[in-house]
Amino acid sequence: MTSYYAGWEPEGPTVKTEIPGPKSKEAIAKLDKVFDTRALNMLTDFQKSSGNYIADPDGNVLLDVYAQIASIPLGYNNPALAKAARSDEMVSSLINRPALGNFPPHDWAHVLESGILRVAPKGLNQVFTAMAGSDANETAYKAAFMWRRQHDRGGPNVEFTEEEMASAMNNAEPGASQHLSIMSFKSAFHGRLFGSLSTTRSKPIHKLDIPAFDWPQATFPQLKYPLEQHAEENAAAEKASLDEVEHLILNYHIPPCAVVVEPIQSEGGDNHASPAFFRGLRAVTRKHGVLLIVDEVQTGLGATGKFWAHEHWDLSDPPDMVTFSKKAQTAGYYYGNPELRPNKPYRQFNTWMGDPARALLFRAIVDEVERLDLVSRTAAVGDYLFGRLEGLAARFPDEFRNLRGKGAGTFIAFDSPRRDEFLRRAKALGVNVGGSGVSAVRLRPMLIFQESHADILLKVFEKIVST
Ligand SMILES: Cc1ncc(COP(=O)(O)O)c(C=O)c1O
Repeated sequence: MTSYYAGWEPEGPTVKTEIPGPKSKEAIAKLDKVFDTRALNMLTDFQKSSGNYIADPDGNVLLDVYAQIASIPLGYNNPALAKAARSDEMVSSLINRPALGNFPPHDWAHVLESGILRVAPKGLNQVFTAMAGSDANETAYKAAFMWRRQHDRGGPNVEFTEEEMASAMNNAEPGASQHLSIMSFKSAFHGRLFGSLSTTRSKPIHKLDIPAFDWPQATFPQLKYPLEQHAEENAAAEKASLDEVEHLILNYHIPPCAVVVEPIQSEGGDNHASPAFFRGLRAVTRKHGVLLIVDEVQTGLGATGKFWAHEHWDLSDPPDMVTFSKKAQTAGYYYGNPELRPNKPYRQFNTWMGDPARALLFRAIVDEVERLDLVSRTAAVGDYLFGRLEGLAARFPDEFRNLRGKGAGTFIAFDSPRRDEFLRRAKALGVNVGGSGVSAVRLRPMLIFQESHADILLKVFEKIVST
């Protein structure tokens, strides 16, 4: 299969210097004087990057299967997106950024319906737009708290009491008998703003020194691989996890009004659970009147071979909210139940409330994904890649452990006994790949990643483990 856009990207990677090379080192030293560079992965020349390939100032060009932490949908300098960016509509959106809640553009309904809402998860027909994954989650949590309180208070028309308003101003008990919480799972990642950080449980470094809410965490099932050989144990782990969720819903001293879950725990190390587990989670949350928020910030937009990863679960009862960001370039949460809109304006509000320019970009992304049928293509490329990785894992079982993501598009990962060295060597051999959790190598290619790119990747992986 040839590239989707003729002549757009190079045939393969080029490594000219060590990375960082001399030019990068000089530029990094200059940058470090004014900007913390300690998390820097690679100084990037975005003008010279194209398609699946990321370039640096030293002329190195790497196959990029990390893609700005899983956030580039259609490749660097995608011609279709560049065209959308040059439109009058985009220019107007960029230079006339609205305070969206107060001054929505006259055609905002059309922009939403032809873009963000065109790909809305089944059963969810409204959206609250936001700016990043963390704030998509936080605003979803706020919607959950307000929904639950409104319900307990007797409905949207019941006025707040004087006592409630006074205690709110004192950061005190919100006038009700008990605080509420959001339940998340151990090793989950839902962002780093104050509220979202309390549901993030992947690494202490994210959380140290930051005041956090006393919210419950359930154990995410730790599946054993290969799945076929551990079916019974894995089913038992999933059942134990669901039992724990129910126990926490009923007994945690600060009752949860919502459970938030990633379809595949991504930052936490690519931890999967079965569709049956998630159906069980939907059932137990529904049974107890607790909302289910599915965090599709990393899994959304096709990488798992479905537009939304939760489509793999075959739910008859949709999640209450689905949050998105990353490859969407914009962010927010989808919902269906009108009661998830708070009873009064300004309760869920900020200046930007998202960004129409980014919403236009998302629409152009969706157009391209549909035109090129990239979700089905990603499913097929993922199957191809997974099959070949299984072959490598059979030859080098110690180097490719717990290979996971079968049938989940290109959302594939494995554990490496020398993960950080693996990532470094990959870079030196022309592949930019990321890690997650303690030992996972996670693949997050773009939706334009094809079999030919997979072959390049596999050759590099084979070289890493055989030399
Ligand atoms: C599942 C998930 N949720 C939320 C976030 C936070 O998104 P952001 O970094 O855009 O705030 C991330 C980021 O990696 C994520 O993977």
